[in-house]
Amino acid sequence: MELNAQYWDKRYVEKTWGWDIGYPSPPLIDYASLYDTDARILIPGCGHAYEGEWLWKKGYSNLILMDMSETAKSNFLARVPDFPADQFLIGDFFKHEGEYDVILEQTFYCALNPDMRDDYANHMLNLLRPGGRLAGVLFDFPLTEKGPPFGGSAEEYQARFEGKFQIIKIQPCYNSIEPRAGKEFFFEVKKPD
Ligand SMILES: C[S@@+](CC[C@H](N)C(=O)[O-])C[C@H]1O[C@@H](n2cnc3c(N)ncnc32)[C@H](O)[C@@H]1O
Repeated sequence: MELNAQYWDKRYVEKTWGWDIGYPSPPLIDYASLYDTDARILIPGCGHAYEGEWLWKKGYSNLILMDMSETAKSNFLARVPDFPADQFLIGDFFKHEGEYDVILEQTFYCALNPDMRDDYANHMLNLLRPGGRLAGVLFDFPLTEKGPPFGGSAEEYQARFEGKFQIIKIQPCYNSIEPRAGKEFFFEVKKPD
């Protein structure tokens, strides 16, 4: 099965969006709110982007949302009509160009074919300014053939990012939503200055 734009858009059209929590994710917004409102923030694979809505309403105007699904975008814009449509990009993350202070991760890494994981880390480096950070949540369950979501471990994440990034933290997430409590890590990695 190819995890392409058609696959993901169909999930939104059919409303088979089990990953969608329906409100801003506490670990992401608690972290993002540490930044000034002029920070350049990217949320790739943002889906319905409840965190994007929250940040936008708090005044974070240099915010770019990105997804492959037109339906996710139109659902988002119907909910947040004052968000600039040209700041919700439709396209492939791996082809996106830009420079960000921070990139937020939630259920994007686990949605990708696992053989894309090194490309993910390398492209995050391309998109961050020197000293910029990638942060968010990553699942803690074994990686198998089955997915998405595809699993991972602290050891895998550590090995994936070290050597490229400075690892600030990969630790059990203390403010997960209840259904994900004990099943995810919070991580923050920094592109070298
Ligand atoms: C599991 S969903 C997570 C959505 C959102 N992060 C959330 O937590 O609700 C994965 C999302 O990544 C998007 N996606 C998958 N591959 C992508 C790619 N290469 N470029 C951009 N978006 C992608 C999908 O369309 C989907 O909305």
